[in-house]
Amino acid sequence: MTATLIDGKAIAETLRAGIAREVQRTEAAHGFVPGLAVVLVGENPASQVYVRSKAKQTVEAGMRSVEHKLPDTTSEQELLMLVQALNNDPGIDGILVQLPLPSHINADRVIEAIDPDKDVDGFHPMNAGRLMTGTGGLVPCTPLGSLKLIKSVRSDLAGLNAVVIGRSNIVGKPMAQLLISESCTVTVAHSRTRDLPAMCRSADILVAAVGRPLMVKGDWVKDGAIVIDVGINRVDAPDLGPGKTRLVGDVDFSTAKEHAGAITPVPGGVGPMTIACLLANTLTASYLRRGLVPPAL
Ligand code: GUN
Repeated sequence: MTATLIDGKAIAETLRAGIAREVQRTEAAHGFVPGLAVVLVGENPASQVYVRSKAKQTVEAGMRSVEHKLPDTTSEQELLMLVQALNNDPGIDGILVQLPLPSHINADRVIEAIDPDKDVDGFHPMNAGRLMTGTGGLVPCTPLGSLKLIKSVRSDLAGLNAVVIGRSNIVGKPMAQLLISESCTVTVAHSRTRDLPAMCRSADILVAAVGRPLMVKGDWVKDGAIVIDVGINRVDAPDLGPGKTRLVGDVDFSTAKEHAGAITPVPGGVGPMTIACLLANTLTASYLRRGLVPPAL
């Protein structure tokens, strides 16, 4: 069997186009333009690339983008004061503090300082609790994007076995919650799981979010499974020339595609969905904050 390729780039473009239309309609109908503030502390090169992409795509969707770039000498207190100012700024609907933060800053304290209703990352414990209890709130972007990719190939997930590899607060745990809400039977696997290959072979939906390049092999994949590869790992690629690198996922795509029914590539799978969902969350937050019903995206 050769799998259907789930084209995250195309699905993200369609989602962003829909958001852009809704932003225009929002301005005409309600007289406001959603605003997103992105805060970057320090000079992490990967973070700089992400933040630039986020700002560009925010503006392309017709929303306002505000960037705060702070030196890595910024104290936790200074960062908390900026977050407080953004919480109180009526022109800001979404606040994203790019992670990782420098080691002298406690990321949990910063996340908890963000107004949960502006927490477009969905990382605040209040939003984690709302997700767990099914009471609304903002949902972390990568799991939300992954669910949209799963639903692009199968709309009714009820009763399916889902295995999520990885138990992070950013991906694994919220992904499991979303799949529970879809009436899947969910297993969260991790580095201490016994016989991970057998566990994976039970999965109708397999989500890999561990950060281990090419860990999930083809013979771990049940025939016909939906495979979502959240990993983005840069590895040496001597075949491309000396010193060259390439991006690979947590799934060994070349063997997994022979078993999967549908599979995401890396790059071009989950990655583009994350920023598209950030824009969706910003639009959603802008409505909820005003007591309006957000558009379905
Ligand atoms: N760093 C890597 N991914 C993310 C993300 O989704 N949100 C934030 N705030 N930082 C990140």
